[in-house]
Amino acid sequence: MEKTGKESDMVETATADISKYRVEELITHGIVVSNLSYKIAQELGCDEEFCKKIAMAGIVHDIGKIKVYSYIYSKDSMNIEKMRYIRMHSEIGYDILQTKDFDEDIARAVLYHHENFDGSGYPSNLVGENIPLMARILRVCDVFAALTSDRVYRNAFDVETAIELMIDEVKNFDMKIFLTFLTVVNCAPIEQLTGFVVSNHDDSKNVSDKKEYGRNKKTITAKGKKGRKR
Ligand SMILES: [Fe+2]
Repeated sequence: MEKTGKESDMVETATADISKYRVEELITHGIVVSNLSYKIAQELGCDEEFCKKIAMAGIVHDIGKIKVYSYIYSKDSMNIEKMRYIRMHSEIGYDILQTKDFDEDIARAVLYHHENFDGSGYPSNLVGENIPLMARILRVCDVFAALTSDRVYRNAFDVETAIELMIDEVKNFDMKIFLTFLTVVNCAPIEQLTGFVVSNHDDSKNVSDKKEYGRNKKTITAKGKKGRKR
């Protein structure tokens, strides 16, 4: 992936100014995505080699964020700049894995894990089955894992709310994979889906923790990790 001089400089000079919390968040998010992706791949009937590869891809899918964390969380960056840096992480992750001689299927899954099924994703605006299967599975799991984890600006959504939010944005997902995801979520113990999450839980956030989510600008109140209602 070719980058401008400024982008290359940015990547090269990115400091190791990453807090312990950020690293733990990255690792635990990777574990949840890995576990869930592996289960979905199995449920889809993928062979064992594919399942093992996607488990690895889940672990490393956001590795590119390490290079841009200091910019994303810099108080000096404007929001539009932060968005641009965030959007670079999948390409940076691909480049990192290439230098480490990672399997090409895994590297491509990392590269395309933010592509949306309707073509609205990044970095290449791929559409439908032009997006590698591994990346389409990661996309669903990544969104679910993010919604069900605490963030500095909100508490985790419970599983039921997370699924409601994902249904609002279902055009982003391969429907066959999304339906398989629902099957897996309904069968797996909650701790296997959102386990290992490093809690940054802050009850004070519950009071004002209303976030606008998605294009519908639906107002949702984060409920915290209360577990799933049946
Ligand atoms: Fe990502």
